[in-house]
Amino acid sequence: MRQPMIAGNWKMNGSTASVKELIAGIKAGMASVSKAAVVVCPPAIYIPQVMADITGSKIACGSQNIADQDKGAFTGEIAGSMLKDLGCQYAIIGHSERRSLYGESDELIAKRFAAARRAGIKPIFCIGETLAEREKGITNDICARQIDAVIALEGVAALADGVIAYEPVWAIGTGKTASPQQAQEVHAFIRGKIAKLDKAVAEKVQILYGGSMNAANATELLAQPDIDGGLIGGAALKAEDFLTICRAAG
Ligand code: PGA
Repeated sequence: MRQPMIAGNWKMNGSTASVKELIAGIKAGMASVSKAAVVVCPPAIYIPQVMADITGSKIACGSQNIADQDKGAFTGEIAGSMLKDLGCQYAIIGHSERRSLYGESDELIAKRFAAARRAGIKPIFCIGETLAEREKGITNDICARQIDAVIALEGVAALADGVIAYEPVWAIGTGKTASPQQAQEVHAFIRGKIAKLDKAVAEKVQILYGGSMNAANATELLAQPDIDGGLIGGAALKAEDFLTICRAAG
């Protein structure tokens, strides 16, 4: 059985005061979350504050990216060892905003995946197609290409050390969620593709859905057999909405 996971991607939002309030709100509701592993991914500068505030709770912390190198002259990057040092357990990598706005390639993202593994950080590895790619009927090809970059560098077994997040780009921040059937189809494709190489890894790896998942649509999405949780953007910024999604998992 795969444990469901709900991860909040706060993106570039927050302040000292709002982070404090958001964590306090999530913490206060955690007793009602029975099954899901709960992860919050604040902007890196707030990670120490979040780590202090989640002490004694079941909430885990992740970063929104991770360097592909281990240390040295890489201005602006944050090493896996630094995240580990602060107590972070996860790192989002390959988010579509990193891919499209900052030009991160499949190869660079695969290197970030490898660096996370070296540091003992679990990558939350994002993949997904744009609207144009969906309309061309190449959704599965795009997801396969993105996953293959990691498999080529690290081998298929490496996928079990992380979490995959299927996030159709057209659904992110748009309010347009993939229907449960649309999402399940791609999740089943991803798991099937991995199963052709390694059945045990395919059974083990958690595949989250992301893209306008919210308190109203989470239950139906999370009920799909191959959807093991969610990567939540906008709805992760309100404690009550985030907790509703966490309760809906499992
Ligand atoms: P959204 O973002 O929930 O606001 O669509 C999801 C994400 O980008 O991870």
